[in-house]
Amino acid sequence: MTSITPRLDALLNTESFQALAQERLSTLAFDYYRSGAWGEWTLQANVDAWKEISLLPRSLVDVSRRNLSCELFGMRLPFPLLIAPTAMQCMADAQGEVATARAAANAGVPMVLSSLSTRSIEDVVNASSADVVMQIYISSDRGFTKSLAQRAQSAGCKALMVTVDTPVWGVRERDIHNGFCVPEGMSIVNLQRPGQPTGHSGSGIGAALGWTIDASLTWKDLDVIRQAVNIPVMVKGILRADDAERAFDHGAAAVVVSNHGGRQLDGAAPTARALPAIVERVAGRGPIIVDGGIRRGVDIVRALALGANAVQVGRPILWGLAAGGEAGVARVLQILFQEFDIAMALSGCAELSAVTADLICPSP
Ligand SMILES: Cc1cc2nc3c(=O)[nH]c(=O)nc-3n(C[C@H](O)[C@H](O)[C@H](O)COP(=O)(O)O)c2cc1C
Repeated sequence: MTSITPRLDALLNTESFQALAQERLSTLAFDYYRSGAWGEWTLQANVDAWKEISLLPRSLVDVSRRNLSCELFGMRLPFPLLIAPTAMQCMADAQGEVATARAAANAGVPMVLSSLSTRSIEDVVNASSADVVMQIYISSDRGFTKSLAQRAQSAGCKALMVTVDTPVWGVRERDIHNGFCVPEGMSIVNLQRPGQPTGHSGSGIGAALGWTIDASLTWKDLDVIRQAVNIPVMVKGILRADDAERAFDHGAAAVVVSNHGGRQLDGAAPTARALPAIVERVAGRGPIIVDGGIRRGVDIVRALALGANAVQVGRPILWGLAAGGEAGVARVLQILFQEFDIAMALSGCAELSAVTADLICPSP
């Protein structure tokens, strides 16, 4: 991993990175990153729901040699974690998504690139050896979406991740209060069309990005993307077992159980609560990835015990980026890896397959 400056080394958990990020970022940027929709109930519930899962560690198991790695679509992961797609990373660091990709490459962790990124797909893929997955919104301009998907494939992205929880944008009151817009000098580079508003002050971000999603989307629209590329297509934003089943029926390579980090429907179930029913219905059909509120390595053990194959983290990566650029992201990944490694050992698990449902203490 990248060498760590003493200051970052002294930060021991992702919460400390959030505090430092808050010091370093403008209110506009910090609020954009931390916000959830409306009253932010789901945002908080995501974090709390993992804490409600108590573990029953196994004793006297030889955990002296631990293998935490796994494979996902030909990508080798040092531990079952991906960097979730988060928009506009140049607000956190001048290098933005390129810095995140370099830290991901050093850690061997795949990075999912938001289609609302502030660095181009090609810049991010070519900046390092990181495995990059491209996140896609299916826009009202299907031809544009198809060509974006093909462009990601040509650039070398290993898979696509289609986000399906955004028929309309969730309402984030902090952003409205702050008059959030794309800061001058930055742009949503991959989604530029001639004559379109830029999202800088005046037009606002909603006007600039309205066309990038489509309230009329249905399951058949997923086929448009699947048929446009020959890399795996994952579906992100699933909270229901029947939708997970539909996603696989429509050719999804994996599902991502997610409520968009509490940024879409406030009141949506925390992902730790939604996950078990999805696992029960579709386990074995393809990887099940979960995100939302993962803040500690032990949360990854909890997610695997509930039946997930891997997790994604969103905000902690942004806090790392804001606190220390590439080195900050590297340190956040290092913390999560080390915490997970120790949590595995303390749970009596030397490998991922040892993390089974009986590790969870039944609730009263
Ligand atoms: C600032 C921010 C921007 C995001 N942008 C996107 C995006 O462009 N596309 C997407 O599918 N999800 C996006 N998400 C959702 C994340 O991919 C992920 O589902 C969520 O952040 C996970 O929760 P966590 O932040 O609690 O780890 C964003 C989340 C945040 C916090």
